[in-house]
Formats: sequence, C-alpha cells, structure tokens
Amino acid sequence: MMKKDMIGDPMSRVDGRLKVTGGATYSGEYKVAGLTYGVLVPATITSGTVTAIDTKAALRAPGVLTVITSFNAIKLPGYHNDAERPVKGLKLFNDNKIYFNSQPIALVVADTFERATYAATLVKATYQTAPFETDFHKNLDKGVVPQGGRYKDYVRGEADAYKNAPVKVEQEYMLPSEMHNPMELHVTTAFWDGDKVTLYTKSQGVKSSQRSVAAVFGIPAENVQINSRFVGGAFGSSLRTWPHEIAAAQAAKMIGKPVKLTLTREQMFTLVGYRPLTIQKIGLGATADGKLVGITHESHSQSSVYEEFTENSVNVSRFLYASPNANTRYKIIPLNVGVPTPMRGPGEATGSFALESALDELSYQLKMDPIELRLKNYTDMDPERNLPWSSKYLKECYQLGAQKIGWENRKPQPATARDGDWLIGYGIGCGAFGAYRSAAQAKLTLTPDGKVNIKSATSDIGPGTATAMVLIAADILGLPAENITFELGNSAFPMAPTQGGSATVSSVGSAVHDVCIAFKNKMLLLAGKPQNSEEKLDYVAVLKEANLPLLEITQESKGGENAQKYSMYSFSSHFAQVYVHPLTGMIKVKKVVAVVDAGKIVNLKTASSQMIGGAVGGIGMAMTEEAVMDDRYGKLVNGNFADYHVPVNADIPQIEALFIDKPDPIINPIGTKGIGEISLIGVAAAIANAVYNATGKRIRELPITPDKLV
Ligand code: MOS
Repeated sequence: MMKKDMIGDPMSRVDGRLKVTGGATYSGEYKVAGLTYGVLVPATITSGTVTAIDTKAALRAPGVLTVITSFNAIKLPGYHNDAERPVKGLKLFNDNKIYFNSQPIALVVADTFERATYAATLVKATYQTAPFETDFHKNLDKGVVPQGGRYKDYVRGEADAYKNAPVKVEQEYMLPSEMHNPMELHVTTAFWDGDKVTLYTKSQGVKSSQRSVAAVFGIPAENVQINSRFVGGAFGSSLRTWPHEIAAAQAAKMIGKPVKLTLTREQMFTLVGYRPLTIQKIGLGATADGKLVGITHESHSQSSVYEEFTENSVNVSRFLYASPNANTRYKIIPLNVGVPTPMRGPGEATGSFALESALDELSYQLKMDPIELRLKNYTDMDPERNLPWSSKYLKECYQLGAQKIGWENRKPQPATARDGDWLIGYGIGCGAFGAYRSAAQAKLTLTPDGKVNIKSATSDIGPGTATAMVLIAADILGLPAENITFELGNSAFPMAPTQGGSATVSSVGSAVHDVCIAFKNKMLLLAGKPQNSEEKLDYVAVLKEANLPLLEITQESKGGENAQKYSMYSFSSHFAQVYVHPLTGMIKVKKVVAVVDAGKIVNLKTASSQMIGGAVGGIGMAMTEEAVMDDRYGKLVNGNFADYHVPVNADIPQIEALFIDKPDPIINPIGTKGIGEISLIGVAAAIANAVYNATGKRIRELPITPDKLV
C-alpha cells in the first residue's frame, strides 16, 4: 500500500470544518459565568496630562459596575518595580500622562457591552495640554539612532561608493503607516480565581503572554493561564501583550468578576501597532555593463515617544546582491503616536520596496532586462557575513516566475504595450527573510485506541499550524492523519516560541519531528527491536504487550547551532502583470506570480494559501492602504474600513504560488525555511515596477492610487 499523508502533500486544514461551521471558539466567544464588559475611553488630546476625570455620570448609567482610571486603579507591581527587565511600553492607568491621541484614559465596565459603550461617552476628562509632534516630514531631521548596537551604521568597503559610479540611481521612497487589521478584533476575556488569572486572548505567543502577565501582576508564571486556541488573523499585531490585555485582567481583579474587553475597529488603528511610515533613500551605482559597485540604503521610520520600535528595513541591501561597497543607515523619529509593531514581512517588506524599485530604475538606465541585472549581481555567498548560504535557489525563482507570468511579453520600452485602451506592464520584486529556528518542545501521547495526540504551546494565527504538525507526525509515524490530533494555543502546554518571524514549522515542526522519532524508538525498544529500524510496528499491540495504559513522551528540539556557520534565508521573487487605464489612472493587477525558495514545503495546500494571503497584503500595501494623520490635531482621520482601504475581492487577481520545494540541508531535520513573511516581501515593488513598465511613471510613494498616475 502506498504511504498516506506525507510531508509535501496538499492536505486540507484539520480545523477547517470547525472554522467554517462556527465550531471554532475565538477569544471573544467563551461563555464565562458572570461575564462583564469593558469599553475603553480615548483621550481627546495628543500630548499632556489628565488633570481630572469626572466619572459620576458614567457610574450612574444603567448596568455600570466601575470606571477605572489612573486615579483609582490598583497599582500593578510590574509597572513599578525596578526589575532587570521592566515591563515595556504603555502602562495603562498607571499615571496621568498622555503620549498620543486616543490613548485610553478610562475603562468602563458594565453588565452589557452596549451599556458600557454608552457609559463610556459620559466620562469627562479635563486636561493640561502639551506641545506635540505627529508630522513625520516636518521632523525628518530629528531622527535618532536606536539604542543598542544592532542598528549602528553599516559599511562594507567604502560608504556612498555609488556616487562615483558610471551609472547611478539616487532616489527616495515613501510608504505610509499601514495597519494590520485582522478580521478578528483584539479581545481579551480575563478572570481571577484567588491569585490565579486566566486570559482568553488573541495571542501569537501564549508562553510570552504568560510571562508578561505574570511580570506585570508580580505573580508566578504558573498562576497565569493563557488560552488562544483560534486566532482570526494577526499579521504581527499579537506578537506582544498589549496594555488593554493587562487592563482587562486589572479590571477583573478590581471588581472580582470576569471582564471581556473588545477593541473597536477604530481602536485597532491606534492600540495594537502598525507598519510605520518610512522614508528611504537608495543610492545604486553600477558599471556600464550592470555590475553593482555601491549600494547605499538609508531609512527613517516613525516611532513613539514612549517606546522605541525598530525593524530591519535597510538590512536587505547588505546581502541580497553582490557589491563590493555597501552601507546602510537607520534612524527612527519619535512622534506622539502609538508605538508601531512588526507587520508581516516587517522591515524587509519596507526595505525591499525601496531596493527593488531602485534596482528597476537602474535597469532602465542601463537598458538591461531587470532579471538579467539581478543575475549579473547574483551572489552565491552572503556578502554581509561572509558566510555560505544554507541554501539558495533564487535563480530558479527568477526563471520559474518569468515563465509563469509571461515575461517574454514584457516590452523593454515603457508605455508601449497596449490592449485596447489599457497599457500593459510587467514587474519583478524580490526579497529575503531570515530562516529562524528556536528551541521548542512537544509532548506526544499514544492511547490504546491507537490515537496520537501532540501538544505544544504554539499558536496558529492562520497558516494552518496544527495541519502542518499533523502531517509531519503522520509521515514519521506512518499513521493516517485522522489518527493524529495536534493541540496548541494553551500556555500549560510544553514550551514553544511565539508564532512570528516565519519560524513555527522550523521550530515547533522540529520538536514534533523529534518527539515522533523518540516515540518510534521507544516503541522499537518495547518491541525488542533495534533503534531507528524502519520496521513498521503496530503501536497499539506494542502498548498492550507492554501492559501500558498509554505512552507519553516529551521532547525538546533545540535550534540555531548552525546559524553561526551559515546564512539562512528564504528567498522570493514576485512577478506582477498590471493593466493601467491612462485616462483615469485606474490600475488592475491582472496576475501575480509568487515563487519562493522556502526549503521543503510541508503542506502544499496551506502553504499556497499563505502565499496568496501574503500577496493580497502586498497588493494592499502597493495600491490601497494608507493611514492619514491630521497633524493639526495629531489624530488619525481614517480609522475605519470606509476610509482606510484594505483590498477587497474585486482588487485581487489570479495569484499563483509556486515553490522551489528543495529541502534546506542545514536548518532543521525537515528542511523548511519559512514562508509567512516572505509571502508579502517584494510584492509592492513588483507592482510599482509593473506600473512603470506600463506607463513610464515611476511612483515612489505608496499607495499607488489613480491620482498619482494622471
Ligand atoms: Mo510576524 S510580523 O513575526 O507575525
């Protein structure tokens, strides 16, 4: 019989039926006895202090249980102690300071959500205002190098060497702030039992949430239970524990009742991070035959005045192409805004838009095909770290993508290809994202009915983590997938890293791999067979023979030792075909082809879905998404889905996701490199470059809206 359920198969989601039938329980859907509802009240100033809050009217409103403000909130030890790792970020209700507009100043708790929402409108604060700055462009000269050594200026060879090259590009690229906006709102339900607290919360990392909550409340981690079994999208916005999650637990403690705190869509624009507004300067210098001699990449990014946020926007320019000279500079500009947070392809997506746009500009100056230019500057080792790649099949990505998009139809001269009234263009954008792996544990249990259960405290924010883990286990154990369950999203499970940085399959998948191997060897031992033998065992019979009620085994898989000897990245090449209507400036993305070298692909079906989802995010970044600040008031003016445009079905063309699917021999036993972030990196540049090819108009400020083309 042919083996069933193997790594690489296209397997449907193990929790798909639950998700489409409403059987999947999300953080806001748990029925907790005596539940109360919390609604946050936003500050109406942008900087200053709250001098008084009148809560009398709110407290008299029907159903209101309490109104929590900095004037009456219980003090939280972690907000005050001078521990070595003090709790970072905004400390809600801890003092009277206002750092940004709409920062919460009160939490109204009532017996229904509607009553809490109404009472929140009755809270009246008086303020002492202070000067504020939200205007990024006005403050461009106030950039600071972030703390710590990581963001120091980088120089290889000579700085700004591009300036003396025979052919050069020197341009500035801008992207606005962009919000993650997962479909599921951020919700936390919190309740206490003595000095133990339970949170149902939208989290990418239940273990890190557990640590954060324990630190803030000054209680042992084992007193904190975090559940986040289903997450309706996050894209980075749940990588950390946010102040509102702490506030829910704080309120629950104060009133002795469970509290559910749901952010409004508008609050999702200010309280859970975003991709920061960034201006980048790229200098590229090349010889007349297209060899890069210098790359300079400078970035200025928005951050908050109360917490520093940094990301790797300039790093890609140090290693993606061969160049004897390369230098990068990175600064952040602290403003009176909420703190940004990583958003899918964090930094790398931003940096790649600038670098890949500039490279495209260079190709036209050189009158050279953009793929040929990339091949000319291809590098078989990492020029930044002077190390070999663990694996790299970017050339193969170029070739496959070019073939699938129909690159041979691209006209080298812009604005010369037409289909009726429409101009046609083709573009390419490439990217890389670190292939990370960290330690993780998995616990496997075999029961006498022949079912295998595996647990690990990872999360699934959408990629289909449980499905991938079941497939890995099914392959190694030689069992059908339906005999295996994988549980996640619970802080009581064995340790796993936060789901982020595209590292879950590499980290947790390795733990599942290792625990399955350990289990097989345990079975072989019980059956009196040699270790690591390929012999197929009847696990139930072995269990019975050994007189065991069940078998439990926990394994930790460490990672990372090869990270010192190799440079490990996923690589991608995105291609776009666009139609542009020259009279109206309307752009139709006709086709996107995403080709990825992400090592071995575990589940072809969910991996393709993930690539398509990332491309949709990239289309939003390229064409529709832009947070607009009114700098007179320091307030966002489009914090809703009517005015902030995420791409909709009508914006999305045929998207083809293709994988090189060659296992990386170095990074982990499965050979996977990760796809979560790389799925978005390169998309915006591919579209911008296609728009240029179609129209001859170079748009260096995202999003590419029709007004910029007419
Ligand atoms: Mo990803 S931005 O690490 O969720």
